Amino acid sequence: MLEDLAELEAAGLDELAAIADAEALERWRVRYLGTKGRLKAVMPQMKNVSRADKPAVGKRLNEVKLALEQAFSGKKASLTDATPAEPRIDVTEPGIPMGLGRRHVVSRTIDEVTDVFARMGFTVVHGPEVEDELHNFDALNIPRGHPARDPRDNFYLSGGLMLRSQTSTIQIRTMSQTRPPLRVIAVGRVYRPDTHDATHYSMFHQVEGLYVDRQVTMVDLKTTLFQFARAYFGPEAEIRMRPSFFPFTEPSAEVDMKMKVKGRWQWTELGGCGMVDPNVFEAVGYDPQEWTGFAFGLGIDRIAMRKYGIADVRWLFENDARFLRQF
Ligand code: DAH
Repeated sequence: MLEDLAELEAAGLDELAAIADAEALERWRVRYLGTKGRLKAVMPQMKNVSRADKPAVGKRLNEVKLALEQAFSGKKASLTDATPAEPRIDVTEPGIPMGLGRRHVVSRTIDEVTDVFARMGFTVVHGPEVEDELHNFDALNIPRGHPARDPRDNFYLSGGLMLRSQTSTIQIRTMSQTRPPLRVIAVGRVYRPDTHDATHYSMFHQVEGLYVDRQVTMVDLKTTLFQFARAYFGPEAEIRMRPSFFPFTEPSAEVDMKMKVKGRWQWTELGGCGMVDPNVFEAVGYDPQEWTGFAFGLGIDRIAMRKYGIADVRWLFENDARFLRQF
């Protein structure tokens, strides 16, 4: 058996030395070290070895096995290293172009509008899109039975909840948590079950403003909106307020702004505003004798559409990259 082992070792190492590629190496591994290989084949001879010789022969068997295995590992490593260093990636080849993204025109408008109000000292607050009727209606002086609460005009959910129909909810949320004076804006989505057409969508964006302090007047309101118009639409922008009604302001007005649309100055209705109704102050625990304030709500999508000459509100939400790329 010792002779067989010596022969096996010598032949194995010789053959291995001549091997130059991975496939031949694998064939060698199977032939010598595999389960049906030559090393396994000599093992049954152990039972013919005399008791006295067994330890020595066993030891030799292990040595041969180890020698073949080590030689194999060494060869394998050298073959891998020796693989010619052809670059696997051709770095000169043109890559797959990555489309560079951009801010959505609505997000961009939100950023720009926020920026202007921030410069006027307004801080940004947030509120939930799923609201309760207290914040969306009751505390805003919109009592049960008021037409604005009609189920056909609102997305009611179960459990007294709804998708907010206006960002005015945030007036209530902010005042209930903060002591006056305060100066905040809130921007976000609002929902109404409108049939989609060029000027209506069931979801749109508003910016809400609220200013509360002592002796706030309509002059402050008008000045703020005017300054916004000038800062945002340019030095020739104008604003116009038309008497109107909102339950949470008294007096109330609609706001129009004169802005450049496709090179021509045009009046555009942008939202509502007014002096905070004393009932709203009472609902949040502010003393209406002491505190006064103004509020406004403007349509962000309207602003974006006018500013960028977009004719159809649906285009804003279809995610057609060809449309969005223009801005
Ligand atoms: N929430 C009103 C709407 O969605 C807009 C509005 C009007 C907001 C007057 C105000 C306001 O803050 O004072 O139609």
